[in-house]
Amino acid sequence: KKLLLIDVDCGVDDAQAIMVALAAPGVEVLGITCCHGNTKLENVCKNVLRVLKLCNRSEIPVYRGACVPILGESAHASMVHGHDGLGGVPDPEAPGLESLQKEHAGEAMIKIVNEHANLVTLVATGPLTNLALAVRMDPTLPQKLKNLYIMGGNMESRGNYTVCGEFNFIADPEAAYVVLTDYSCPTYIATWEFTCRNKLPWEFFDAWVSQEMDKAVFIKKICGHGMKYFQSEYGAAVLNGSGFLPCDSYAMAAAIDESFVTDYIECGVSVELNGKLTRGMMVLDPINFLQKKKVFVMDTCNVEKLKTLLMAALK
Ligand code: BDR
Repeated sequence: KKLLLIDVDCGVDDAQAIMVALAAPGVEVLGITCCHGNTKLENVCKNVLRVLKLCNRSEIPVYRGACVPILGESAHASMVHGHDGLGGVPDPEAPGLESLQKEHAGEAMIKIVNEHANLVTLVATGPLTNLALAVRMDPTLPQKLKNLYIMGGNMESRGNYTVCGEFNFIADPEAAYVVLTDYSCPTYIATWEFTCRNKLPWEFFDAWVSQEMDKAVFIKKICGHGMKYFQSEYGAAVLNGSGFLPCDSYAMAAAIDESFVTDYIECGVSVELNGKLTRGMMVLDPINFLQKKKVFVMDTCNVEKLKTLLMAALK
């Protein structure tokens, strides 16, 4: 079994990625940790509980994590994810926050990874604050992880939240810096540009959400708000073309199915913390000026495999 720990800022595409993981054969989700990001932390926690309830998987422990970045103010992405992170679609029967675990997400990461040393794959689809805090509390944590998959950062300095910055890294540049300085397990990164290059056709989206299942109805509803953005002229410019972009599912698919990514760029990376225009930008170091251990930056993939995982997620 593949043991997954998922760290999310549960907006719409995080919800999709969680559903992909829950449906994947041979995968066990050990826990879900919540971080500020697409929406405020309380909403993130509620959204994760909502997704687990929909999937009849409420036994999976959910942990509340960081509500703000290491420095500065929170950034949110309500233009894509709506005011509540799930497209502003109300759910009167949403579970209450009393079912959250008592430990902080950072403590939970350390506990879970220690319980299954060298066996846990961590998939992080939001700002990296929880992981950075955990790494600072236990500097041996990265070497006890099996793999780390991140959705975030960029490879061609094309931003989606600032000129050069991808949202998850912009929402906590210091955390991204800590994680990408202290990593010592194999680390795989689905950058913004990688996901944009592999957008899915809207025809696929229509077929996906038209399946006659509660989960498809839910996904269709929560995607409504973001679709207006994605299909606008501005959205298409940010996306570098039109198409459906389930960003976080690219990192999840790579974690679940090793044949999904067909090529990686292996190189050191770092995160710019100071630039006026470039703060939060991930910088690739193919010449190895920084003398850092290499990460695997996703370069090409087989989108058919992603489509199969997404289809299965709504069954
Ligand atoms: C990332 O930012 C968020 O809005 C998405 O959930 C995704 O994780 C894309 O830049």
